[in-house]
Amino acid sequence: MRNSFSLILLVMIALAGTVSGALAFSPDSLVWKKCTGCHQPREGKIAKVEEVRTTPEEWTVIVDRMSRLYGMELGKGEMDRLLKELCSTQILSPEELGKVSYLNLFNNPQTVEQPVGDDQGKMFTTCVRCHSAGKILSYRMTPERWTKLREFHLYQVPTVLYQMREMRWMTESEGVLKDLARTAPYGRAWQAPTASAAGSYLVLGREPGKGNYRGEATIESAGAGDYRVRGAVAYDDGTSENFQGDATLYGGHALRSRLTANGLPTYGAYAFVGGELRGEQHFPAPDFRTSSSVWYPLAGKPRVLKVTPGYLLAGETTTLRLEGVRLPAVTAGELTFSDPSVQVISARRIGAGLIEVVASYRGSGTRKAGVRVADLAEAPVTLAGGVDSMVIAPELGRARVDGGKHFPAEGVQFEALAFAGGLALGPVPARFKLSAQHKRPNDDDLFWVGNIMASGKYIPIGSYGPIASREFHAEGTGFVDVEAEYQRGGRSYQAKAKLAVTLPDFVPRIK
Ligand code: HEC
Ligand code: HEC
Repeated sequence: MRNSFSLILLVMIALAGTVSGALAFSPDSLVWKKCTGCHQPREGKIAKVEEVRTTPEEWTVIVDRMSRLYGMELGKGEMDRLLKELCSTQILSPEELGKVSYLNLFNNPQTVEQPVGDDQGKMFTTCVRCHSAGKILSYRMTPERWTKLREFHLYQVPTVLYQMREMRWMTESEGVLKDLARTAPYGRAWQAPTASAAGSYLVLGREPGKGNYRGEATIESAGAGDYRVRGAVAYDDGTSENFQGDATLYGGHALRSRLTANGLPTYGAYAFVGGELRGEQHFPAPDFRTSSSVWYPLAGKPRVLKVTPGYLLAGETTTLRLEGVRLPAVTAGELTFSDPSVQVISARRIGAGLIEVVASYRGSGTRKAGVRVADLAEAPVTLAGGVDSMVIAPELGRARVDGGKHFPAEGVQFEALAFAGGLALGPVPARFKLSAQHKRPNDDDLFWVGNIMASGKYIPIGSYGPIASREFHAEGTGFVDVEAEYQRGGRSYQAKAKLAVTLPDFVPRIK
C-alpha cells in the first residue's frame, strides 16, 4: 500500500517536472533556429527572448531590428512564422493588450495619452518624447531587461542625453526603469487558449463620420492560426461593402486581418475573447476611414446587442433600432421600457437581427433606463430632457501632409458628440468648418491647410517641402480651429476643437 502510494507520488513529481520544464521553444522551432545563434539558451530558456512579453506589432519591430542591424537572415514568410511562434507564449494577456490597443493599427490614432499617478508622470517626462507611452506599456519584462533598457537607448539612440539635456537622464531613467520593473513585470509566459475563431458572426460596427453598419461574416480555419474571412455589411447611409481576405490569430487572442473591402485593402486588429471579436479596422490613407466593430457568434443565445440611437429625447418621437441575434417576433405590447414615462407606439421585427421600435419619452429630466424585448435581457437606453451640450472629438486632431509614396497624407475624422445631464448621448450630424487662430502677425495657416468637409473629415492638401510663396518658405502645415454647429428642437449648439497639420511621420516603427 505504502509502496504504491510513493510510486504514485513519484509519477506525480515526474509529471509536474515535465510540465513546468516544458520548453516554450523546442530546438526544431523557427525561433530556436533563428535566435539561439546570438541569444544562448540557459536551461532550455532562450536568453532575452523569454524575458519579454509584448504585442505582435512590437515583436515585428524587434525581429526586424535583429535582421536590419545585426544581420539575422529573414527569408520570405519567416517573419510571419516567427511572430506566431513568439506570440504563442511571449504576448501580452488580452487585458494588458487592451490598454495599448490604440497602437495596433498604424493609422494615425488620435489618442492623447495622459499619465496616471506620480510614477507615470515621471515616466512621461523622462521617456515620452521620442515615442508614445503606449510603446513602453506594450512591454512586460524581467527586472534585468528593464534595467538594461537604459544602455539599450544609449546604444540605439545616442543623442538621448542631448535631447533630454534639461534633466540628468542617466539617473532619472534609472528611477523610472525601476518603477517599470515593478509595475510592468514579466510575470510568466502566456498560455494561448485553444479556442478557434472559425464560425459565423453578426457584425455590428460604427464608422465616425459615416454611421452605423451591420452585416454578417464567416471565418474559416486555414490551419496554423490562419483564417479566411468573408462577409458583407450595410451602412445606415445606404452604402454597402463586401469583404474577403485573410486573418491570423496570435497567442489565441490577438486577431489581425488583411481584407479587401469593395476593392480597397483594409487592416484590422481585434481581440478574440469569449467567442466574440472586438476591435478596429482601417482603410488606406489619406482619410484612414477607421471603424470599430464587434463580431458576435450568430449561433449565440437570443439577445439584443445594440440600440441606436441609444437615447430618447423628451418631446420627440424616435425610431429605435434594436439589433441582435435570433430576435423573436414582437408586438408593441411585448416591448417594455423600465421607465413608465416611455410610450411604445409600435414595434416591428424586420428580421432575426433587427426590431424597429417607435417610442416617445413623455417625462422630463435625464436618466438611464432599459428596454426589454419579451423575456430577453434588458438593453440600456438613456432618457434625456434635451441635448445640453456638444463637444468635438478628438479635442486636438493631428493630420500629416503628404510625404511621398511611402508616407501618404494622414487625415482626421472629427465627430460631434451630444451630452445631456453629464451623460453621453452619442454622435450627432453637426456641420463643420475651419477658422483661423491668430497666434502670430500675418498668421496665414488657414489659407495653407485648406478646408474640412461639412461631415468633419479633414484631408491635408499640402505636401512635404517648402512653399516658395509662403513666408519663411514654410510647408503647408498649420494650427487652426475646428468649429461645429448643430441644430435640434429649435436650439443651436456650437463646439470648438483644434487641428494641427504637421509633417509626415518618417519613422513609423517608433510609434
Ligand atoms: C545576429 C545576432 C542576433 C540574432 C540572430 C538575434 N538577435 Fe536579438 N539581439 C541581438 C543584439 C545585439 C541585441 C541587443 C541590442 C538590441 O536589443 O538591439 C539583441 C536583443 C534582443 C532582445 C532584447 C530587446 C530589449 O528591449 O531588451 C530581444 C527580445 C531579442 N533580441 C529577440 C530576438 C529574437 C526573437 C530573435 C530571433 C528571431 C533574435 N533576437 C535574434 C542580436 C541578435
Ligand atoms: C531620445 C529618444 C528616446 C527617449 C527619451 C526614450 N526612448 Fe525608448 N526608444 C527610442 C527609440 C528610437 C526606440 C526604437 C529603437 C529601434 O527599434 O530601433 C526606442 C525603443 C524603446 C522600447 C522598445 C524596446 C525594444 O526592444 O524594441 C522601449 C520599451 C522603450 N524605448 C522604453 C523607453 C523608456 C522606458 C524610456 C524612458 C526611460 C525611453 N524609452 C526613452 C527612443 C527614445
